Amino acid sequence: MKSTVGAEGGKSMASKKLLDGLNKAIAMDLRATIQYMWQHVMALGVEGVAVNNVFKEIAMQEMKHSESFADRLFYLGGIPQQSLWTSK
Ligand SMILES: [Fe+2]
Repeated sequence: MKSTVGAEGGKSMASKKLLDGLNKAIAMDLRATIQYMWQHVMALGVEGVAVNNVFKEIAMQEMKHSESFADRLFYLGGIPQQSLWTSK
C-alpha cells in the first residue's frame, strides 16, 4: 500500500487517491448541506410548510455524511482541504 504524509506529518495508512476522494466527498456533502438548509429557510407559503421539514432533515443527514467522511479522513491521517468546500 502506498503511504502519504498525514495530518501530524507522519505516514498515512491510506493512498492519496483515497484521501482525495474522502476530501471530495466531504466537500460535496457540505455543499449539499448548505443547499438544503437554504431551501429549508427559504420555503414559503403552503407548499413551503409541506416541504420545509423535509429540507431540514435532508440538510442534517448531509451534514452527518460529511462528519462520517471527516472522521474517516482524520483516522487515516488525511488533511482537510478547505479549498474544496467552496469550489465546484
Ligand atoms: Fe450525502
